[in-house]
Amino acid sequence: MGRNSLKIGGVDSKSLAERYGTPVYVTDLGRVADRFEEAKAALTARYPDVLMAFAYKSNSTLQVVRALAGRGAGATIVSVAGVELARRAGVAPRDMVFDGPSKSKEELAAAITAGVGMINAESVQEARDVDALCRSLGVREVRIGFRVNFDIRAETHAGLATGGREHKFGVARSEVVQFCRREAQKLRSARVAGLHSHVGSQIADPEVFRRETEEMVSLAVELREYGTEVAELNLGGGLGFPYRKADKELSIGDYAEATAGSFARSRWSGRARLVFELGRWIVADSTVLLTRVNYVKPAGRVRWALVDAGMNDFIRPALYGAYHEIVPAWTSSAGRSAGRYDVAGPVCESTDVFGRGRRLGVRLSQGDLLAILDAGAYGSSMSSTYNMRPLTAVATVEDGKSALAAPRGASSE
Ligand SMILES: Cc1ncc(COP(=O)(O)O)c(C=O)c1O
Repeated sequence: MGRNSLKIGGVDSKSLAERYGTPVYVTDLGRVADRFEEAKAALTARYPDVLMAFAYKSNSTLQVVRALAGRGAGATIVSVAGVELARRAGVAPRDMVFDGPSKSKEELAAAITAGVGMINAESVQEARDVDALCRSLGVREVRIGFRVNFDIRAETHAGLATGGREHKFGVARSEVVQFCRREAQKLRSARVAGLHSHVGSQIADPEVFRRETEEMVSLAVELREYGTEVAELNLGGGLGFPYRKADKELSIGDYAEATAGSFARSRWSGRARLVFELGRWIVADSTVLLTRVNYVKPAGRVRWALVDAGMNDFIRPALYGAYHEIVPAWTSSAGRSAGRYDVAGPVCESTDVFGRGRRLGVRLSQGDLLAILDAGAYGSSMSSTYNMRPLTAVATVEDGKSALAAPRGASSE
């Protein structure tokens, strides 16, 4: 790489680092738009009535969600602050989906008042609570769904699996049936209009998605017998992204076939809108985290590259052992090296390591820049101020120009 500076969305990393400081997330908005359009095209080609309710938890930078809303995306939010963000992005309340296993009454009331299009309950008590809250708020009708736990086990990191019976997520199928048989028709304001399922994240097996779709259809058919008409079938998110070149990859076409394609051939086709809550797949490769080398330090057999980004800025490696490619973005010398580096941050935790034994192809020195790739999903949105460090700056690039989305120390939402 020598002195060459990595380009991000057509903009040179060295100038980005100088302009915004480091560490800085740099998001290519064109890439976000392209991935969104690709996913939308693949899904709507198989079933036309689709709402792409982007998962705000994966990336909540205002410019990102605004770009998506401008292309017709709805919003999947998991806290009530998400309602406000989605509104600022330009999403109509009817295209907002409110998920989460433990919503407070205050949050439910705020979502009801805002007119959120679908509240996905994760217990039958939550459904009752929504109904009671509607009455006290004087709201005539709210659409609710049930997040159903079908006990589908997906092969993914344990910290990313949500679909097993023992997980805290969702309501068992039998409980949903019982509720719709005995109670749903007695609710005054909460109308059960949807089913929801999200079995985990970073999934590459099409059978998981096919099975999830089939289970949802079979339940929708059964609920009809009890007077519940499912008009919205929400298949969640979860499509994996290949962070390593060798990772198993499920193409968007094969994912769309397993979900929208299976649904289009099912008995419930034409009776419901399909909702997708994809997050990671849309934004993962839109963003790099640019970080500067503070020190290069040998320690026994290890050579540390100690950088200025820490686990508070980007927690995926520390939290899930996630692999992210690291490449030199700019180096002061043209010296090449076959040596390996362990790349770590400044936080006082041994898990604050971004990569071990990485061959970067260069000899690093103080002040050089590294890029941690594919940091667009669960990157800035999971950042914190741990160790009393300021939140990382976020910049966007588009058409060869950059802009500041959030200065250091401020939230990008
Ligand atoms: C309920 C729900 N929907 C959607 C998503 C988005 O998942 P992903 O980013 O893997 O597509 C998540 C994240 O795990 C989630 O919890």
